[in-house]
Amino acid sequence: MTATMESETPHLRGCLVVFEGIDGTGKSTQIELLARYLRARDIEVETDFEPTRGPWGMKVRQAAQSGERLSVEDEVECLLQDRREHVKNFIEPALAAGKWVLLDRYYLSMMAYQGASGEDVERLREMNEEFATIPDAAFWLDIPVETALERMNARGNGHDAFEKEDFLSAVAKVYSEMEMPWLHRIEADGTIDEVQQRVREVILQELGV
Ligand code: TYD
Repeated sequence: MTATMESETPHLRGCLVVFEGIDGTGKSTQIELLARYLRARDIEVETDFEPTRGPWGMKVRQAAQSGERLSVEDEVECLLQDRREHVKNFIEPALAAGKWVLLDRYYLSMMAYQGASGEDVERLREMNEEFATIPDAAFWLDIPVETALERMNARGNGHDAFEKEDFLSAVAKVYSEMEMPWLHRIEADGTIDEVQQRVREVILQELGV
């Protein structure tokens, strides 16, 4: 009886939380810490990233790692296809099952990176919002480009074709001009714990957890 009733109870939809910023801002560390915090509150959490490791995402990654990007039109096409599959096969089913989804990059990355490569930022937003779930909250982890590059150098895994100073400055400028009510700028030039504290304050204020 109880089991039947439980299986008939619709899940409360989960929240979609997105982390954005130029490379080297510490997105993945912050995502892991936030996932730990949420799981300690009995929330089921999935973490993931874009571009995915599916065929469309890999095409963009492999080109960038070889030092030579695809044309910006091809990037847009591949990354939209990658995101379409991600939303349909992973993000939406997880949210519908009541899980929170924490993403390392989403369509704000396309607005910032392909926007900084010459595409119209508003048009990119529209193309994505035709099919992509709007985040419940997004964090733009903001650090100076020089600091991000120092961190990338310290990691020692070389630079891909996206990781050039002038280009990353242009990307940061696009992020700084975005205005969505659910997008929160986080000063990310502090310690890991300080940054996480700022993230959690927003989660509490905006999503009540
Ligand atoms: P990144 O998060 O840096 O992956 P990894 O840490 O595994 O190398 O993503 C790779 C690059 O893809 C990054 O420099 C930004 C770029 N990118 C876009 O240009 N547009 C997009 O829509 C997305 C999701 C990523």
